[in-house]
Amino acid sequence: MNNNGTHPTATVRIQRFNPETDAKPHMQEFEVELKPGTTVLDALHEIKTHQDGSLTFRRSCRHAICGSCAMHVNGKNELVCNAPLKERLDRHGRITIRPLPYLPILKDLVVDRSSFWEQYLRVKPWLTPPEDTPEKEFRMSPEEVAALNNAETCIMCGACYSSCQIVGLTKEYIGPHALLKAFLRVMDPRDSIPGERLADLDDTDGVYRCRTIFNCIDACPKNLNPTLAIETLRKLAQKREAFEQARIERQKHLDEPIPAR
Ligand code: F3S
Repeated sequence: MNNNGTHPTATVRIQRFNPETDAKPHMQEFEVELKPGTTVLDALHEIKTHQDGSLTFRRSCRHAICGSCAMHVNGKNELVCNAPLKERLDRHGRITIRPLPYLPILKDLVVDRSSFWEQYLRVKPWLTPPEDTPEKEFRMSPEEVAALNNAETCIMCGACYSSCQIVGLTKEYIGPHALLKAFLRVMDPRDSIPGERLADLDDTDGVYRCRTIFNCIDACPKNLNPTLAIETLRKLAQKREAFEQARIERQKHLDEPIPAR
């Protein structure tokens, strides 16, 4: 707090666009008080509540779980709900917020995620269990569970998808988010269609479209590694039949206890 009892302020630069009145996006500046613990999302709420009710953005849980509030902050995609405002200010006390790149802007900071969800559905993101499911439970080894760790905490925020320059070039590319989900299903011993999945991904819009640009890793707020998942899928696609056969064998024993080591 300042000596006069007021809080210092931060300058929040926001890209605005109203399709009904604007020919193209423009920047607008707002001043907000920099109170302890203020997040970037808090600053947006402050502006919307007290300065300009027309400011439009998505948010929901405020706990980095729902994936709604991914935005482009100072040139990097991130979730604004757990981004401390103070840490995002430059030496002039400014922060710049834009919508996620490479996606059509609906209004202000809200983008059209249709292609994101279309590609997600394309990889059949649901688990397809074997016809003969165990009477009680599937038994997976610690190694099998650990193999899924790189993918199962994905919150589908779109930060990786809209950081990928290949997505910027073509919306035909499946994208890192959906390939990470495909990896999760392919690696899961309970899934019975890994061969079909690998065959679907084994084309120019799938694992071979990735150019290992790594932006997706930098953007992921959950520290996941879509690039490694894509690389793994590429290798598995090359030995698809053997992998599928191994899965069939594995599923014959899914209800048996895992031997202690
Ligand atoms: Fe894109 Fe990530 Fe590959 S940024 S090109 S999906 S490594």
